[in-house]
Amino acid sequence: MRHPAADPGRYTRAMPPFETLLAAGGAALAPMAGYTDAPFRRLARHYGAAWAVSEMVSARALALGDDTGLAISAPHPGERSVVLQLFAGDPAEAAAAARRLHAAFAPAAFDLNMGCPVRKVVQRGCGVELMRDPGRAAAIVAAIDAAVPVPVTVKTRLGLDRAAAREVVAAVVAAGAVAVAIHGRTAAQKYGGEADWDAIAEIAAAVDVPVIGSGDVADARDYQRARARGLGVMVARAALGRPWVFRELLGGGAPSPEEVVAVSWRHARDHVGWYGGERALPRLRVQLAAYAERLGLDRGPFVRVAALDHLADAWRAGIGIDPADPRVAALDPFRDTLPRCPAPRRRRQRQLAA
Ligand SMILES: Cc1cc2nc3c(=O)[nH]c(=O)nc-3n(C[C@H](O)[C@H](O)[C@H](O)COP(=O)(O)O)c2cc1C
Repeated sequence: MRHPAADPGRYTRAMPPFETLLAAGGAALAPMAGYTDAPFRRLARHYGAAWAVSEMVSARALALGDDTGLAISAPHPGERSVVLQLFAGDPAEAAAAARRLHAAFAPAAFDLNMGCPVRKVVQRGCGVELMRDPGRAAAIVAAIDAAVPVPVTVKTRLGLDRAAAREVVAAVVAAGAVAVAIHGRTAAQKYGGEADWDAIAEIAAAVDVPVIGSGDVADARDYQRARARGLGVMVARAALGRPWVFRELLGGGAPSPEEVVAVSWRHARDHVGWYGGERALPRLRVQLAAYAERLGLDRGPFVRVAALDHLADAWRAGIGIDPADPRVAALDPFRDTLPRCPAPRRRRQRQLAA
């Protein structure tokens, strides 16, 4: 399917090299299944995310003509520096999927998921399973690289059950990956324990492409520590219900309660616009509750939001701020609401975390 709005002027095919982006400063929005869609990426980029990665899309499904992945990764008109992530186990499928996505959306780059430990993904030989087979991982990177005229990156973990990513990282870099993101945990750890930034830095020292670390970055101190090691930074969970985190990492101030309300209101309206109606709002509840928690409010009314009016009521009742108040509206980061997503999103993708 072609993106109805995909005229060459509306999307940037190129983004600055990762070296340039990293030198300019700022963290990237890490891919998160179920979250890093166009409405959220727009907010993250507005607040200073250096680039943003879509949630992972199944290369096999796309190669077989299933369009669900198109909706998951669709950029909004005008979106720049968007990286689309694929999970793939087979080079030919990865190449076919990348070609389809490139024809539809002309993203700035493709990222190969090599970190997802979820059984459904691993069973298909994808995600972190690729770490077992550097040859296949490299073949997939090379196949995407040959299929599309944009750079390829890889996002991986430290290893399966111990830090052992050096060989596979070297293989994907030799195959053409221009940057590598590393979540500082093993697959066995999933999200347990602390991310090991020493181990990330050791892998980074062995390759000559930019390495972007991921794991537990939540404030300017974490960010500075990572940067002092010469690493790039990706932020995932700390950005949920807090897209202004990218501003805070660069020394910017925390938002006022009015700004939090304005941003959540913008996010909800963009979500409704993008997914074509209020019935999509339940998918945003986790983030709406996260916005509320940032202000110390009870999640309850926010996880029950099924209409924009409910969200306005929840803010009014919880903190006495009305999203329609002109002083709040003046803090809306955008003037326009996103148009309808160009591809159907059939059902909520099960959240597959890497
Ligand atoms: C809900 C959720 C979904 C995720 N989905 C993806 C994904 O689709 N692809 C991927 O490479 N990583 C995914 N991740 C991993 C994150 O990108 C990141 O590496 C990890 O959460 C550690 O960073 P953090 O401490 O900043 O959250 C996901 C994480 C979470 C919490």
